[in-house]
Amino acid sequence: MAVSRTRDRLAAMRGLLKRFTTPLLPDDYSAVLNPLWSTRELRGRIEEVRRHGDVVLLDITPGWGVPTDFQPGQYIGIGVEIAGRYIWRSYSLTNAPNSNQGRFSIAVKAVEKGKLSNHLIGSASPGTAIRIAAPAGDFYLPHPVPEKIAFITAGTGITPVISMLRGMQERKEFASSDVVLHHSVRSRDDHVFGEVLEQFAQDIRIIIRETSTEGRAKAEDLEQLVPDLRQREIFACGPAEMLDHWHQWAGEDVALHSERFSLQRTSDAEGGRIEFSNGSQHTAASGTTILEAGEAAGVPMPFGCRMGICHTCVRQLEEGEVIDLVSGETHESGERVRTCVSVPKGDIRIQA
Ligand code: FES
Repeated sequence: MAVSRTRDRLAAMRGLLKRFTTPLLPDDYSAVLNPLWSTRELRGRIEEVRRHGDVVLLDITPGWGVPTDFQPGQYIGIGVEIAGRYIWRSYSLTNAPNSNQGRFSIAVKAVEKGKLSNHLIGSASPGTAIRIAAPAGDFYLPHPVPEKIAFITAGTGITPVISMLRGMQERKEFASSDVVLHHSVRSRDDHVFGEVLEQFAQDIRIIIRETSTEGRAKAEDLEQLVPDLRQREIFACGPAEMLDHWHQWAGEDVALHSERFSLQRTSDAEGGRIEFSNGSQHTAASGTTILEAGEAAGVPMPFGCRMGICHTCVRQLEEGEVIDLVSGETHESGERVRTCVSVPKGDIRIQA
């Protein structure tokens, strides 16, 4: 409710600005006054940059209209202009909601062929203007917190958990929960948040596994160390294989929450023939997104993040039904859909 009231207020202010600034758009004026003000998109500015090996830690000041409320564990999307085009990715927030002077903190790790991550690691500097997609995500700590928690993380999968721990500290919740953190790193030198975790050593049990010498953690290893593991509410974040392993172990009996950033392509949608409003057609197999089908058919469709964050790719569904693979919702004719994460459920027609 609070979010929708905020949106209504912002829409009203945008409308007012538009009435007084037409024929030029409000952005034509606001950008002159402050590059963080925009009525068209959410903006931010990189404020602080700290590098740690192949990870860069960024503090970002959100601009006008960016919702700053979030739950510890959620992520934001950021869009950075590279060679004339905005590249979008999502990153978990690492700060607690009321800390860090209203800034967002994120950690970006270099990934192979990662255009944005490599750009940020090489060139991010204070003062850089970026675009922002509001905090979102279902991977966050419930409130009040569960009585027994196990965090299972690997590599930069620890980032949302850092926010959760900071959030628990902020809300003074360590007294009401028994917390174990099992974190896998290649070696202790790679452990970006080692010093941060030391601050929680009095409040939680921390187990660090160095995979270069001990190998990857298996469920049975952890069950030996934490015999009541199955009775704990588990929050896991890390590479896809790790999450697959833990989901298989958990089955139906264990409360396991996990965060994946790659698109899960399985759904009830069987694919179908896609007709674009410019007359092009393509038959999409199950799991093929509308955006991918458009590209295969040579339709110049807009896109940004390709992950359902930035909404650059939104198009009107003119006929048929699609499934949004991120939300799981089915959308019908007349609705606007995110083409980068939506797949056809039978034959459809869509705005090109
Ligand atoms: S390209 Fe960003 S939401 Fe689809």
